[in-house]
Amino acid sequence: MEHRTLDQRGIWGSKVAFILAATGSAIGLGNIWRFPWMVSENGGAVFVFVYVLAVLLIGFPVMLGELTIGRHTQKNAVGAFEAIKPKSPWKLIGYMGVVTGVIILSFYAVVAGWAAGYLFKTVSGAFKGDLTKTITQGIYDKFTTDPFQVFLFFIIVIGITTFIVSRGVKGGLEKWTKVLLPVLFLLIVYLAIRAISLEGAAKGLSYYLKPDFTKLNGTVILQALGQAFFSLSLGMGTMITYGSYISKSDKLVSSAGWVSFSDTLIAMLAGLIIFPTLFAFQGSPGDVQGESLVFLIFPLIFSKISGGLIFGTLFFSLLLIAAITSTISLLEVPVAYLIDERGWSRNKAAWLMGGLAMILGIPSALSAGISSFFQDVDFMGKAFFIFGNLSLAIGAFFICIFVGYVWKVKNAVQEITSSSPRFRIKPFWIFAIKFLAPIAILVILYSLFA
Ligand code: TRP
Repeated sequence: MEHRTLDQRGIWGSKVAFILAATGSAIGLGNIWRFPWMVSENGGAVFVFVYVLAVLLIGFPVMLGELTIGRHTQKNAVGAFEAIKPKSPWKLIGYMGVVTGVIILSFYAVVAGWAAGYLFKTVSGAFKGDLTKTITQGIYDKFTTDPFQVFLFFIIVIGITTFIVSRGVKGGLEKWTKVLLPVLFLLIVYLAIRAISLEGAAKGLSYYLKPDFTKLNGTVILQALGQAFFSLSLGMGTMITYGSYISKSDKLVSSAGWVSFSDTLIAMLAGLIIFPTLFAFQGSPGDVQGESLVFLIFPLIFSKISGGLIFGTLFFSLLLIAAITSTISLLEVPVAYLIDERGWSRNKAAWLMGGLAMILGIPSALSAGISSFFQDVDFMGKAFFIFGNLSLAIGAFFICIFVGYVWKVKNAVQEITSSSPRFRIKPFWIFAIKFLAPIAILVILYSLFA
């Protein structure tokens, strides 16, 4: 169903276009790089279990809330709060999202740059022959501490992102994601099958899928929730902004459901590649640093299967593209704000914010080993925690309160049912957005500081 409108801001070309863009935002390094890392640091399968619950009970309802605010107001993250509750401090949540977006972009693009570097390495044959974990570890260490390469690829990623956003996210993104997401999915399924059938993979499978509930604790829950917000792109107005481009006739509930489902599926499949392979190579999660997992393990599997060079090239290309459809959505939040609320041109907003993210990203780029100062203070880790976890959780909390009590849930329901009249999960959603999600977030935030 195609529907173009005369609206200046533009609307997604179709429901499919919106879903693809939102899925593209959600699926990225969070799923393939960060999810397995979190699993490895938080007791394996028990984390996976809590994570899935967090997505179902908290992530999905918050996503529906954000999309609903966006579609109703047709505004950016700041303007949306102002439209519903004019002249109130609620728009501060929007400002927080704008700032968070630029900062997440700054360190996210560093890791996306690593993916770009790995693509380059794969193509140039760095992963040929009989690889071992020690070898891939050496390659990783050498790469992430080489300032020239790290900055080169970081700048390339920010540059591509900024260029695409400066041209407007609605047209171009649609064409890309339509083809690339299905290819990514098929590739990952194929690699998962190959990984599972490696000799010695069974231990990895049980580590990944058989929960040991004695490992359950507050940190696991905190990390799972933080990861859910990050992976689903919630808590900073990305889904408000993307929701603002949804047409009034598209169904919000199934859209939120689809995005949450496919995002979780990709993360689950990524783990299904990483852990069996890790164990098959006699490794265990304790002896690798989580943030290097993807970069150590994927080259290993490519060295084992036939056509490894082709699959490796395809994999790192898709990882890079998945990362870029996410960086685009991060940059779009501040850019949409500057266009709508400050009257900036898209071009100016995109290049200035992209430039800012590039400057802010310098310490993160240095912190994986180039500068011992930034490495010692774990700059990227801290930035990730504050902006990639804390700020998103706080944002999501206030979004729930806003929808549930300020805008009022009945108005939100009206917006939702205007296009999805059979809103079967309505009671659950109301309960989740008014009570379950905000209370859970509060308890977890409290436990962090108590
Ligand atoms: N969800 C993306 C990923 O998993 C990252 C991302 C894009 C994001 N936009 C966001 C995270 C907004 C938090 C908020 O790779």
